[in-house]
Amino acid sequence: MSKQPPFFSAARLISLASVLLLSGCERPPVVSVQHGYAGTGMVQVYNPRTLEQQADQHKAPESTPPLPDDGPKAGQVYQNVQVLGDLSVGQFTRLMVNMTAWIAPEQGCAYCHNPANMAEEGKYTKTVARKMVQMTQHINTDWKNHVGQTGVTCYTCHRGQPVPKEIWFTANNAPRGANFIGDTAGQNGPAQTVGLSSLPNDPFTPFLLGKEQIRVNGNTALPSGNRQSIKQAEWTYGLMMHMSSSLGVNCTYCHNTRNMAQWEGGPPQKVTSWHGIRMSRELNLSYMEPLTDVFPAHRKGELGDVAKLNCATCHQGAFKPLYGAAMLKDHPELGRDTTLSAPVKAAKAALQASAAAPVAQR
Ligand code: HEC
Ligand code: HEC
Ligand code: HEC
Ligand code: HEC
Repeated sequence: MSKQPPFFSAARLISLASVLLLSGCERPPVVSVQHGYAGTGMVQVYNPRTLEQQADQHKAPESTPPLPDDGPKAGQVYQNVQVLGDLSVGQFTRLMVNMTAWIAPEQGCAYCHNPANMAEEGKYTKTVARKMVQMTQHINTDWKNHVGQTGVTCYTCHRGQPVPKEIWFTANNAPRGANFIGDTAGQNGPAQTVGLSSLPNDPFTPFLLGKEQIRVNGNTALPSGNRQSIKQAEWTYGLMMHMSSSLGVNCTYCHNTRNMAQWEGGPPQKVTSWHGIRMSRELNLSYMEPLTDVFPAHRKGELGDVAKLNCATCHQGAFKPLYGAAMLKDHPELGRDTTLSAPVKAAKAALQASAAAPVAQR
């Protein structure tokens, strides 16, 4: 009879340990996609299994083609239509049905309306929804340099829920008041926002609400006259971690790592992102903050601030929201600016065309 090795032999233990150790790694195959010139190391790495798992999350809902814009207008038929008055009644109703599917599929029309009187303003959700219609139109008409022809609808952020999955509040970084530790700038409290690193955990308040300088490359050789510091660079890295994880990409998606600060020779996505930063900031300042008094207390943050948006609110882990599905083409009513007259719009478009390119702005 041949001698069996004991069950807990060293060889078995080592192989068991290595299985346990490697279970944290990604099992091959992974796909790498060349993203810049050969030899520059600008490669994006994807795992096909993860992509497959996430496919459903990034699927746009089916939509019916838009209705003809004829017949009586909503503004003539209904009592209290302040923004969507120039839509035909058919188109208006179609949008109400879609908004319900995008925001409150379980709650229905009553999430925003008193069913006994649709014109009433009693629910805060209706007031918010009206502002959101204007915000969506504004994104699609004035931020084409970011959202292109793809555009956004309510679904881009909401995905069938009243509160979008990815929102942020200003972090309370002095929860115990003044103490001897001083201002830690939210460091060493690992947060998902910055990929569980020890970087400042709220890079949004300075950059996506405030207008703090993101660029950190010193422009003089000596520290005198040079505001750039390691502390400031850490805030910037916090934002960069957020941007990478929101889009599901590596730093090289936007940077040629030979020189992170350089624009020439880098991918065009860096310029798109530059506009995305300005867009997110403007939406938070012009649409979300003014709603502070409209939202009830249970929807607000620890410091009483309103929920705000960042790159993840729309992107949710994809390089383009919904992998670039162009929902806007089926919802032209969300792609027009109903708040401005034609001559004002023309003047605005001319101004935008002449706006300074990001490279020129230091
Ligand atoms: C996410 C919020 C929301 C949901 C859900 C919603 N609505 Fe509305 N509804 C609004 C807003 C905002 C207005 C006002 C639009 C404006 O001022 O241009 C409005 C206005 C209306 C009006 C005009 C009332 C009047 O006389 O002024 C009707 C009718 C209406 N909605 C029907 C519906 C129906 C039917 C549903 C369900 C299929 C529905 N709505 C779901 C937000 C919503
Ligand atoms: C760019 C992202 C974005 C888009 C596009 C967007 N929303 Fe919102 N919406 C938000 C954020 C952020 C909040 C704040 C979350 C909260 O309620 O605390 C919000 C809140 C709301 C609320 C309040 C929900 C609640 O229960 O408090 C309603 C209603 C709403 N949105 C309707 C709409 C409608 C209708 C559209 C399309 C016309 C739309 N939104 C498009 C980001 C977006
Ligand atoms: C989605 C695009 C994108 C991704 C991904 C990205 N960045 Fe950036 N990065 C930018 C943009 C745009 C700027 C310039 C911001 C501005 O000027 O407003 C910038 C600026 C920087 C700067 C400041 C450079 C200077 O001019 O001083 C550094 C450093 C940086 N990024 C590092 C990183 C690192 C490290 C990563 C990966 C963790 C990363 N970035 C991922 C788009 C990106
Ligand atoms: C209001 C929703 C919204 C927000 C907020 C948003 N994006 Fe986007 N982004 C889009 C849409 C829609 C597209 C697709 C545009 C197209 O198809 O041309 C896009 C495209 C991009 C692209 C181009 C991808 C490619 O491969 O061409 C980059 C890069 C990007 N966004 C970065 C960002 C960053 C960084 C932020 C935050 C600072 C941000 N976005 C915030 C909606 C948004």
